[in-house]
Amino acid sequence: MTPRTPIAAPSAQPLDLGGRTALVTGAAGGIGRACALRLAAAGAKVRAVDRDAAGLETLAEAAEGVEPLVLDLTDLDAAESAAAGSDILVNNAGIQLVRPIEQFPPDVFHTVLTVMLEAPFRLVRGALPHMYEQGWGRIVNVSSVHGLRASAFKSAYVAAKHGLEGLSKTAALEGAPHGVTSNCVNPGYVRTPLVERQIADQAAAHGIPEERVLGEILLQDSALKRLVEPAEVAEAVAYLCSPAASFMTGSSLVLDGGWTAH
Ligand SMILES: NC(=O)c1ccc[n+]([C@@H]2O[C@H](COP(=O)([O-])OP(=O)(O)OC[C@H]3O[C@@H](n4cnc5c(N)ncnc54)[C@H](O)[C@@H]3O)[C@@H](O)[C@H]2O)c1
Repeated sequence: MTPRTPIAAPSAQPLDLGGRTALVTGAAGGIGRACALRLAAAGAKVRAVDRDAAGLETLAEAAEGVEPLVLDLTDLDAAESAAAGSDILVNNAGIQLVRPIEQFPPDVFHTVLTVMLEAPFRLVRGALPHMYEQGWGRIVNVSSVHGLRASAFKSAYVAAKHGLEGLSKTAALEGAPHGVTSNCVNPGYVRTPLVERQIADQAAAHGIPEERVLGEILLQDSALKRLVEPAEVAEAVAYLCSPAASFMTGSSLVLDGGWTAH
């Protein structure tokens, strides 16, 4: 008979990450900040990585157990080293540029792929030896509905997120014998600075006024006509680190208000 991993009424237990170290990238703002706060509230020591020193300082003041690490993830060697010793890795940092392909600057395409795909690869690479050694690890990749669907004018972002889905699944297959799970979370549009910043670009690319962008472009395919909150995404990340999710790996946990139900 195959061995069983018993879980004592997991839903009745509050998440306890005491003794765990979680590295969260892009932790200075938006979803990353919410994840860092959620994991710290569950007792984890959080290594908060971002290039935004001021944002990290504010975060560290807001919660105990948060250790800020100012780092630009385009420094791939530094990213890989920073991940060593992590029990939980949340690959979250991301950037966006909205432009038609023929006007998309190649250097920006390269940077988006570096920050959102190559850095996660290097962080996973840096984190796995310790996770394998102890027989437990959680990798959570903050993907997007754009890891599963494309939208016009987002070539680099969509390419990076589809790549991240592949990296996540591969890590799931390799990590399974070592007690390491790897999953994606896939939000629709979240109320964060990244979304606020693209309203003007979206208006220009689609040739409509800014006040029509939310309803007509961003939420067009969402059955639920609201932005999802960073805390809701952080809760999904926390779930993936919980005992209740120990059989979940290689998955994409979608919070898209019904977008991909089309
Ligand atoms: N906001 C949304 O609607 C939405 C939807 C789906 C997925 N996502 C994904 O969620 C993640 C977080 O997005 P957000 O909306 O919170 O964005 P955000 O802009 O609020 O936060 C992103 C963080 O990443 C950091 N960052 C960017 N480039 C970096 C680099 N080179 N080195 C270190 N840090 C860097 C920024 O400083 C910032 O603090 C991204 O991967 C994004 O693609 C966002």
